[in-house]
Amino acid sequence: MSGTSGTVLVTGGFGLVGSATVRRLVELGRSVVVADLDTPANRASAAQLPAGVTVRWTDLTDAEQTSALVSEVAPAVIIHLAAIIPPAIYKNRALARRVNVEATATLVRIAEAQPTPPRFVQASSNAVYGARNPYKSAGPVTADMPMKHSDLYSAHKAEAEAIVRASSLEWVVLRLGGVLSTDPNAIPFSADALYFESVLPADGRIHTVDVRDVAWAFAAATTADVAREILLIAGDDSHRVLQGDVGRALAESRGLKGGLVPGRNGDPNSDENWFVTDWMDTRRAQEALQFQHYSWQNMLDEAQRRAGASRYVLPVFAPLVRAVLKRRSAYWKQPGQYADPWGAIKRGIGDPSPDS
Ligand SMILES: NC(=O)c1ccc[n+]([C@@H]2O[C@H](COP(=O)([O-])OP(=O)(O)OC[C@H]3O[C@@H](n4cnc5c(N)ncnc54)[C@H](O)[C@@H]3O)[C@@H](O)[C@H]2O)c1
Repeated sequence: MSGTSGTVLVTGGFGLVGSATVRRLVELGRSVVVADLDTPANRASAAQLPAGVTVRWTDLTDAEQTSALVSEVAPAVIIHLAAIIPPAIYKNRALARRVNVEATATLVRIAEAQPTPPRFVQASSNAVYGARNPYKSAGPVTADMPMKHSDLYSAHKAEAEAIVRASSLEWVVLRLGGVLSTDPNAIPFSADALYFESVLPADGRIHTVDVRDVAWAFAAATTADVAREILLIAGDDSHRVLQGDVGRALAESRGLKGGLVPGRNGDPNSDENWFVTDWMDTRRAQEALQFQHYSWQNMLDEAQRRAGASRYVLPVFAPLVRAVLKRRSAYWKQPGQYADPWGAIKRGIGDPSPDS
């Protein structure tokens, strides 16, 4: 099997999942090369990297750069994380297609042509199951359930996954749940992110997971006996939560009790007006990768510890924050009773429909 030693190339290595994955690989003593875009933010992250990690500034939408990267690094394993994800994907549709689908196809083709083709670990998502109405779905999603797309992101992730699975490479697909971090600065804060959060049906299911456990899973997948498997990566059962609880619980643990505005519930009779998340059956992934270490309560406790002094200051501002968020939320003064995630994304961010 390839991958028990040798260099691991991590694309998108400065992103949320990438940074944690690189740290985990270094802990394991692996040789790591990060490929990511040359941006001021990524340059700043590069300055913090542990010794022994090499950075290759690469735009993966450029086939020549990608080809030089892969042939010069000659990785034993590629962990492919680079992508444009929600909410940014809905604003940058054409670029997102080039990154999420076309660059994946290029990278796979180049990897296949190497003298010793690398193992290819693809970051996929529970989004590949499409919109999930919790009132109509029985158990958690499983690896063998059919893919369905409901929006641009679920379509891109399904298409990219299909390209990887159809390749001659020794592939592994990790479908991730909702990745969270206890580091308040890990997930970029923006007006779009805030609006996007308010769009999602509050009673939709989401299976969260600590980013460190995701990193553990990616690192383990470089060597584990999981070739050509699809593995579902989410936290233990305590992470089977509802969308509306996630932001509220995290905000409360940071001292913002009552600061968030409750979202709208989804329409129990609609198949499509739900977001592309659900609870996941992680048993096979856990058996193979042993990655689940942080429960939901562990995360909330740690978020509280890391909030520091702001935990005592924020409660004072909770009523003000709530008043501002209310006016900025997707359904402020909108008709209807239920969440309409796709309509609200179209109104406030950009067209979420799949490429035609
Ligand atoms: N965050 C989640 O909850 C979640 C859930 C399911 C699946 N995923 C998947 O996991 C992967 C990583 O997600 P993340 O949350 O770390 O995303 P992120 O946005 O934090 O990181 C993506 C990285 O890709 C890089 N990138 C974008 N375009 C590039 C290009 N043209 N060339 C090189 N690098 C480029 C970005 O600079 C960034 O560092 C993605 O494939 C995503 O679809 C994430």
